Formats: sequence, structure tokens, C-alpha cells
Amino acid sequence: MVSKCGLVSVVWALFVLTIFNNPTIVYAGEGVPDVAIFAFGDSSYDAGNAAFVNNNKGGPQFTWPYGKSRDDPNGKFSDGHIVTDFIGDFISIPDGIPPALNPGANLSRGASFAVADASILGAPGEYMTLIDQVNKFGSMKLSWSDKYIEKSLFMIYIGMEDYLNFSKTNPSANDPSAQQAFVVTVTNKLKSDIEALYSFGARKFMVQLLAPLGCLPIVRQEHGTGNDCYQPLNDLAKQHNDKIGPMLNQFATNYKGFQFTVFDFYNAIIRRTQRNRNYRFYVANSSCCGVGTHNAYGCGMGNVHSKLCEYQRSYLYFDGRHNTEKAQEEFAHLAYGANTNVVQPMTIRELIVYPPGQNMLDVWVPNLLSSIRRRPSTYYSHQPDSHIGFSAY
Ligand SMILES: *[C@@H]1O[C@H](CO)[C@@H](O)[C@H](O)[C@H]1NC(C)=O
Ligand SMILES: *[C@@H]1O[C@H](CO)[C@@H](O)[C@H](O)[C@H]1NC(C)=O
Ligand SMILES: *[C@@H]1O[C@H](CO)[C@@H](O)[C@H](O)[C@H]1NC(C)=O
Repeated sequence: MVSKCGLVSVVWALFVLTIFNNPTIVYAGEGVPDVAIFAFGDSSYDAGNAAFVNNNKGGPQFTWPYGKSRDDPNGKFSDGHIVTDFIGDFISIPDGIPPALNPGANLSRGASFAVADASILGAPGEYMTLIDQVNKFGSMKLSWSDKYIEKSLFMIYIGMEDYLNFSKTNPSANDPSAQQAFVVTVTNKLKSDIEALYSFGARKFMVQLLAPLGCLPIVRQEHGTGNDCYQPLNDLAKQHNDKIGPMLNQFATNYKGFQFTVFDFYNAIIRRTQRNRNYRFYVANSSCCGVGTHNAYGCGMGNVHSKLCEYQRSYLYFDGRHNTEKAQEEFAHLAYGANTNVVQPMTIRELIVYPPGQNMLDVWVPNLLSSIRRRPSTYYSHQPDSHIGFSAY
């Protein structure tokens, strides 16, 4: 059995290697309609908006080594591109998804409204909570025709700040009933924010589930968990995530033309954390840039002498909270074209080509598979023009 497992992981590693090293696999834009991408959320989807909020001068993400892989620190929390840019690339949006708050941005193929530190519930004085971002979109929506908005993709990734803050500031953060109550508060607000976006004409939604927040290098560092993830935060993220699919199913039933898919980012990270070498991430428990036990604090901050790894592409995390460009590219591939264990009820590609105005035939179902798949799975798509013929997730 042992040698069989060994063989299986070798085969698996070969699959992963083949898929993510072969640039010819992406058939950018093939057969995909000309649509825009609108992104909402926090630092993970921020394309540089932070510089335009409250005369903020920006933040560390505008400073080297952010953008290192592209020689261009441009306000993204990555050594290069972020997930939204790669998805844009797949549908022939040339230069990434621009920050909506930049008055000079070309918004013809969409924009990111996401801002670093944004939360769902909002702190006193916080300027760009999710509902603020949605309302900003509402105030700008005449820039696009209703028909164009209807067929465009709306990507949402938010909630990290809410749960990190809850875990840090609430004395009963580890009490199950306090957790449940908080998750209900957060997800109910998220629900009404998505409804607001729908009321502005958005119809195609991709919601990215929360990462296992307890595995973030900054969280491991602050809680001193060493090589382990901090479980209470993973539990919170899981409880939050469990509510997303059912919520969206309900929208798809109740609201005309509401279409969606859910990207299981949580388990994509868990797999890369637990079997990082199979995915060719040689370091998954600490970050490339920063200081501290997990190299997780202060990347890009002028007053911090942060360390920088030699080869960022072998790291899962670039800084204490965000993934490397290499990892983000993988996530974009997964969301755009992987199978139903990762993104369901359909891929982003399928969501984009799904006829607008119709209600979906498929529903999201709870994923019954364990987070760890024991053997490589090959999935030959029935669609001849599919994005990738088989997927490694
Ligand atoms: C904006 O981008 C679109 C395509 O992405 C391009 O066709 C158009 O010329 C651009 N507009 C300006 C003013 O640069
Ligand atoms: C963080 O939690 C504190 C106490 O619960 C609250 O007052 C504050 O508004 C929260 N901040 C954010 C960003 O959620
Ligand atoms: C991360 O994992 C490596 C083994 O892959 C281990 O040697 C190292 O101590 C771990 N780092 C931390 C901070 O626990």
C-alpha cells in the first residue's frame, strides 16, 4: 500500500507539473463573449484602490517588493498579478482589472471596487465596506449598458477582516454560540449586499469562499502555532462558508436571472497546505516577505527590515495574508476551468457563457468529499473547447 501511495503521488505531481507549466493550456477568450469583470472585496482583490481612499498615500503594497515578479509595485497584494487579473486574461481583458477609484482608469472591461482592509460589517469610520463598494458601483453604473452589466461577471471575496477582527477583539471568540451568532450577522449582511448588487443589474456572481484563515502565516505567527493552523479561525471560516452555497441557491430560486458559482478556495488552500510539495510549493507555512517566526509581518513597510525569499514562486504565501502570484494563477485556473470539487455548480467559463436572463438549471450542493483527495483524478471534459482538458485541483 505504501509504495502504491508513493506512486500515486508521483503521478499526481506529474499532473500538476504538466498542467501548471504548460502555457499553451490557456485558450484565452476562445468562444467567450466580450464581457466585463467587476470585483468586490478586500485586499485580495484590491487593484490599487487604497491609494484613492481618503487621500491615503497608499500603503506598503505600493512599495517594492510587492510587484517584484513584474518589476512593478502597483498596489496589489502580490508579487505580481492577482486572481482577478488572471481571470481577465483568460477572457482577453488585456491589462488586468483596473481600480474603479482611479479617475483615469479605462473601465470598458470592468473594474475592481475592492479596497484593502474592507470588511462586510464595517468599523466606525471605515470608508469602503462591501455595501459602500456596491453603492459606488451603483453610482457609476451608467458607464456600462444594462445589457453589458447583465452578462458581465461579478466576483466577490470578502470577510477575512470581519473574522480576524472578531477573533482578536471579542473575548468570547472561541465560544461556539458567540461564533454562530457572529457568522449569522456577517452572512446576513453579505446577503443583503448581494441583493443590492442584484438590484443594480448584476446577474452573474462568482463568490470565492473564505480561506482557512487560521493557516495564514500572520495568524500562525500571532498565535504561535508553529507548523499548525490556528483552528478557531478555520472553524469560523468554515461556518461562514457553509452558509454561502445555500444562500445563493435561494437567490437563484427567488430572483429572475440570478446566476452564480462558488469557488471552494478553502479546500484549495488546505490541499496546498497539507501536501504542499505535491503542488510544488516548497514553503506553505510561512511567507516569502516579512519578519517574525513565520516571516509574516511588515512586508513593504519602510520601518521594517523584512526578509525576502529567494524564489517566490515556490511559496504559497507572499506576505502574511496573501498568496504569491504563482498561487494566484493556479486559483484562477481552478475557478475558471476546474471540476465540481473546486467550483460549482459551474466553472467561471460556463457562468460567462450561460445565456443571460435565464435561471440556472443546476444548484450548488454541499461538497461531501473530504478536503483531501487521496488519488489523482483525471477529468476529461465533454466539451471540446474547454479551458483545460482535465484538471488538477
Ligand atoms: C479602453 O480599453 C478598450 C479595450 O480594453 C479599448 O478598446 C479602448 O480603446 C480603451 N479606451 C481608451 C480611451 O484607451
Ligand atoms: C472590530 O471589533 C470591534 C469590537 O467588537 C469593533 O468595535 C470594531 O468595529 C471591529 N472592526 C472591524 C474592522 O470589524
Ligand atoms: C515549516 O515547515 C518546515 C518543513 O516543511 C519546517 O522545517 C519548519 O519548521 C516549519 N516552519 C514553522 C514556522 O513551523
